[in-house]
Amino acid sequence: GVTPKIAPSMLSSDFANLASEAHRMLNYGADWLHMDIMVPIFHLFLCRHFVSNLTMGAPVIESLRKHTKAYLDCHLMVTNPLDYVEPFGKAGASGFTFHIETSKDNWKELIENIKSLGMRPGVAIKPGTSVEAVYPLVEAETPVEMVLVMTVEPGFGGQKFMPETMDKVRILRKKYPALDIEVDGGLGPSTIDMAALAGANCIVAGSSVFGAPEPAQVISLLRNSVEK
Ligand code: DX5
Ligand code: ZN
Repeated sequence: GVTPKIAPSMLSSDFANLASEAHRMLNYGADWLHMDIMVPIFHLFLCRHFVSNLTMGAPVIESLRKHTKAYLDCHLMVTNPLDYVEPFGKAGASGFTFHIETSKDNWKELIENIKSLGMRPGVAIKPGTSVEAVYPLVEAETPVEMVLVMTVEPGFGGQKFMPETMDKVRILRKKYPALDIEVDGGLGPSTIDMAALAGANCIVAGSSVFGAPEPAQVISLLRNSVEK
């Protein structure tokens, strides 16, 4: 069955104190730590970035791993996720979620590699990508074990939740009752009920947790909403 996983997004933490920020969130009741990996790639001819921000890479995961046994839920917003599988596996990542938009041609190879390095494979979809795109990955012989439905455009913390993405969560939950479905972007006390009702069980929350006077209360509120 699906159990709630509350995953504070470390993108909203104080990067200069990552280990203590991680311990703080785990003490507040977090299940997972969500790690946003963004690498801006400028294509000279396409003039398009997957994301425009730069966050952290495998060396940071490796350093953090020395301070905690927690599940490190890595979300890779990069154009070439296959290049990151081995470094992240060796660094101690727990989950490795790639974007379908970057991996249409090599997702089978990606899933196999992620698993062979001892990580849990996941696939993410941007708000503009239709949900059917992930069906083959969930139904594959070696399937992904989580689908991350982006509830904002990837790139930054602190954006506004997009309720129209909930249709995708509802469809996935109906089709796959036991699947881990993660939502990411703009989740907090005012939006969690929409996501929980639609069927999401893994909840990423950055600014709503780190920005709260009492983050533990927000984490337990998120959990209670998923559980009810
Ligand atoms: C956005 C990232 C999110 C982000 C969420 O590209 O994938 O994980 O940190 O932050 P909030 O909860 O502030 O929207
Ligand atoms: Zn994320």
